[in-house]
Amino acid sequence: MATTSKLTPEILVPRLGEYLVQEGKITEPDLKKALAYQQDRLGEGTPVLLGQALVDLDLLTKDELDSAVTEQIIQLRSALQDANRNLEQRVHERTAELQSALQRLSELNQLKANFVANISHELRTPLTHIKGYLELLVTDSLGQLSNEQKHALKVSQKSASKLERLIDDLIMFSLASRGELSIQLAPTDVTIVVDNVVRSMESRADEKGVSLHTLFDENIPLVQADVQKISWVVAHLVDNGIKFTPQGGRVGINVRFEDKRLINLTVADTGIGIPQERLPEIFEPFHQLDSSTTRRYGGTGLGLSLVQQIIEAHGSQITVRSTLGKGAVFQFSLPVSSSPASLDVQGKRR
Ligand SMILES: Nc1ncnc2c1ncn2[C@@H]1O[C@H](COP(=O)(O)OP(=O)(O)OP(=O)(O)O)[C@@H](O)[C@H]1O
Ligand SMILES: [Mg+2]
Repeated sequence: MATTSKLTPEILVPRLGEYLVQEGKITEPDLKKALAYQQDRLGEGTPVLLGQALVDLDLLTKDELDSAVTEQIIQLRSALQDANRNLEQRVHERTAELQSALQRLSELNQLKANFVANISHELRTPLTHIKGYLELLVTDSLGQLSNEQKHALKVSQKSASKLERLIDDLIMFSLASRGELSIQLAPTDVTIVVDNVVRSMESRADEKGVSLHTLFDENIPLVQADVQKISWVVAHLVDNGIKFTPQGGRVGINVRFEDKRLINLTVADTGIGIPQERLPEIFEPFHQLDSSTTRRYGGTGLGLSLVQQIIEAHGSQITVRSTLGKGAVFQFSLPVSSSPASLDVQGKRR
């Protein structure tokens, strides 16, 4: 007796009755008879499958039933294979479409990077003239000026410098996004780099009421670094430290041995801090933590993205930890230079 729980080909193949009629194996009245018989058996509590009903009623032999079911399975398999082929074809077409969209996107990205590079260079040329003439005026080289006039020129100089920094950031960003950020590694004294940065930022920190501190381990050796790019990185981290630290706070720059082969640089501030869950966002280009921050603190949000790209181009990584409301600590390591201290050292030894 057939049982309903057993997985037979008849269960897998739907609409067997219709198929048998279509194929001329049984007639329409045969099918009706078998269906009625099925109903009766169901009522008696001994249900049978349709195929079995046809066999029980001698409307179909067991062999005919098996071969009809097998044929149906073969048809089903070939239909499945067709569907698979169709699906593969569609996946193929969609992949090709996506690839061409990606290609277009990277062309557009390239265009954008070229545009940013060109426009930045175009902006820098007139700015160089403006800065040059401001310097001549402020130093009385073009005639004596009153203190008030000089003050006005000094304010203009500050703004011109801000503009210049912005343009330089954009140029560096466009180089980085074209994969053209070149790094010139040479033995470098990072303590000198840090001292120079601190000197250049002292007046800004003073104005803001933030104090700058340095702490160096004894006998820090030279490291392998691009002196200009690392100076830019340190300056940028200190700039952020000052910017995001309220009056009365401090920014500390430490240079320490991580081990014999690595020197660790840390820039720590006692400022507003960054929420833990938002730490990864701050390295994304043009990303500032919120729009009110943009208005309060200014800037473009390019700084940390460039910092990260420069540090990674040195084969290192920048990390950050922060406690909201208490400050932030940024740090990275640079490898000790294997060449002995010599005349090609970037910057002079202390
Ligand atoms: N030391 C810090 N303390 C608190 N938040 C910080 C600090 N440094 C960065 N951030 C957050 O990360 C964001 C991104 O920093 P990033 O230096 O890339 O941009 P920015 O300083 O806003 O602008 P830009 O550097 O272009 O002048 C900042 O806008 C700020 O929200
Ligand atoms: Mg910044």
